[in-house]
Amino acid sequence: MKVWAIANQKGGVGKTTTVVTMAGLLAKMGKRVLLLDLDPQGSMTSYFQYNPDEINNSVYNLFRLQRPVKKEDVKKILVNTSHENVRLAPASLLLATIERSTQNKDGMGLVISNALSMIDDEYDYVLIDNPPMLGVLMINALAACDCLLIPVQTEYLAIKGLERMMRTLSMVTKSREHSFNYIIVPTMYDRRTQASAVSLKTLRSTYPEQMWKSVIPIDTKFRNASELGVSLVELNPNSRGVVAYESLLTHLLEVDNLMKRRSAEHV
Ligand SMILES: Nc1ncnc2c1ncn2[C@@H]1O[C@H](COP(=O)(O)OP(=O)(O)O)[C@@H](O)[C@H]1O
Ligand SMILES: [Mg+2]
Repeated sequence: MKVWAIANQKGGVGKTTTVVTMAGLLAKMGKRVLLLDLDPQGSMTSYFQYNPDEINNSVYNLFRLQRPVKKEDVKKILVNTSHENVRLAPASLLLATIERSTQNKDGMGLVISNALSMIDDEYDYVLIDNPPMLGVLMINALAACDCLLIPVQTEYLAIKGLERMMRTLSMVTKSREHSFNYIIVPTMYDRRTQASAVSLKTLRSTYPEQMWKSVIPIDTKFRNASELGVSLVELNPNSRGVVAYESLLTHLLEVDNLMKRRSAEHV
């Protein structure tokens, strides 16, 4: 099982869209995918037409257990999505209370990591959607992931937001035992505008190593897909948005294989 977290402290940069689209692509390849919604606003939960205000069993349950998490605890909260191979651990509004209630409690940063270890053999990929702020929820995602995707909108203000995310990241990786890969994904690239081109150039020169080499273009069809509660992969597999995410996925799978080979060589 591979765990990918999708995070950025800025909202509206394409995090949820990235999670949903990548899930659609992985499912199409026959992979078993689990989605985790760690955003108290529950955008991804709403995307799949569940109401985060009314949900009884959600990721929140896992944080409220007064004992070690069991496999059944995780299975109990999962719901179906429009994709046969994709299950969702939804968010509920109560998740918003986690930040305060878990302060000063030991082990709260590993709730998700422990929960996922219970269902390790049941999924090929776990994708974690994150809230746009640093807190115990995002810390949980970073502690659990093998790879972090940071979507960044190609515009000036988003680049400022990225600087914050990078500081957070270096803080978190310092305290983590094993490091993880991360990759910056430029999103909503509008090739007709100068602003997009300039931002992309700035990103590439500031983060030459960490940037994905290509971009996710603006594609209005993403909105249509979200209104229907399906990923764009199902609605319009040949749209340029999907094609771009396909090439991102190919890249990530190549990196995974490379890592696997390297660790095999080291044994
Ligand atoms: N590549 C894209 N082209 C056009 N619209 C997009 C694209 N990616 C995301 N969107 C739209 O932008 C809005 C914010 O995206 P979302 O994925 O919800 O961001 P976040 O999760 O970071 O807040 C949504 O309405 C979504 O449909
Ligand atoms: Mg979101």
